[in-house]
Amino acid sequence: MKFKRNIIITGGAGFIGSHVVRLFVNKYPDYRIVNVDKLTYAGNLANLKDIETAPNYFFEKADICDYERISALMSYYRIDGIIHLAAESHVDRSIRNPVAFAYTNVIGTLTMLQAAKQYWESCAEGYAGKLFYHISTDEVYGALKMDGTMFTEQTRYDPHSPYSASKASSDHFVRAFHDTYGMPTMLTNCSNNYGPYQFPEKLIPLFINNIRHRKPLPVYGKGENVRDWLYVEDHARAIDLIFHRGKIADSYNIGGFNEWKNIDLIKVLIKTVDRLLGNPDGYSLDLITYVTDRNGHDLRYAIDSSKLKNELGWEPSLQFEEGIEKTVRWYLDNQEWMDNITSGEYERYYEEMYKNR
Ligand code: NAD
Ligand code: DAU
Repeated sequence: MKFKRNIIITGGAGFIGSHVVRLFVNKYPDYRIVNVDKLTYAGNLANLKDIETAPNYFFEKADICDYERISALMSYYRIDGIIHLAAESHVDRSIRNPVAFAYTNVIGTLTMLQAAKQYWESCAEGYAGKLFYHISTDEVYGALKMDGTMFTEQTRYDPHSPYSASKASSDHFVRAFHDTYGMPTMLTNCSNNYGPYQFPEKLIPLFINNIRHRKPLPVYGKGENVRDWLYVEDHARAIDLIFHRGKIADSYNIGGFNEWKNIDLIKVLIKTVDRLLGNPDGYSLDLITYVTDRNGHDLRYAIDSSKLKNELGWEPSLQFEEGIEKTVRWYLDNQEWMDNITSGEYERYYEEMYKNR
């Protein structure tokens, strides 16, 4: 079968990547979607069970740092579009092992760019009809004060953690490939995502699971840091829109205009989980445990996504209350998915991580 587009999505077995793969596979049966994922601890093919037999879906277990392999995949599948999500994504892990983050996020992105450059420049039509779309984060902008200001696309990069420094560096390489070689590139900076299939080292799935098991909820510092939360399917919709209609060489902020102080969000989570488990209101509040703060913990993130709204008409579709209810229900209904992850190696990692907090 001849496909209309041939697209690599890297990191498609991870949290956001799996939602992007699902959306593209279902919405565009005439696109060939090639999920390129190394299946690190964060990659899980169970996230894609519902679409794994679709005729337009292909999976390749590969490392984005492996230039030969990525080059071979580019020409084998005649790739014309890349949506690049594969990364090391957890800030706490980056504090423990910054080199791994530089390797995957910087060298991996550079390897993807170089392999795309090599293949696309060898095509008769060159870069025409091609796109390298890089998925970045709001964390590259640094931290805001509690003063109502927001990150815009013009905000100067000021990363603080090894994770955000590695993502900032990869963003610069993406822009450099446009400016130096004329590669059609784009990038987006999104705020905190939540929803099904998120690895339970991140705040929301971790806390839902801990409440279910009556384990302590480790709140960093005073719980006063602020994050701007977006339902993951709204992020995937934005990626679809920008991939098809975004401006080459441009960048867009994606966010929910939905800021929450951690401790307030945690109380909403407790209330929701308790209600759905049939516990009395306030039953799990005693699990809140204040622990040593994260090193260099950014105080506040807030994304101004009005450019995306004004230029392409995107807005979040879900109210936060609705999104949290759906999310909590999903984790409680999919205990097997969670238990498969939280047993064994990850459990040992988690215990080690919190031993000294
Ligand atoms: P995740 O950790 O859940 O998934 C990452 C995926 O990348 C996994 O499937 C993993 O196996 C794969 N991967 C890691 N190293 C690889 C390598 N060397 N080669 C091939 N595959 C590799 O991450 P996520 O939360 O879904 O984030 C996806 C992307 O979105 C990342 O680039 C992240 O920086 C960005 N982002 C995340 C958020 C968020 O809230 N989670 C917000 C904004 C931006
Ligand atoms: O802003 C986008 C970023 O959001 C993405 O680029 C990252 O990939 C993603 O991991 C996320 O980063 P955060 O560090 O904001 O997410 P995390 O879920 O780790 O933490 C959210 C907030 O909760 C943060 O202020 C730290 C706090 N926290 C987190 C954990 C895991 C706790 O208080 N206790 C915890 O156990």
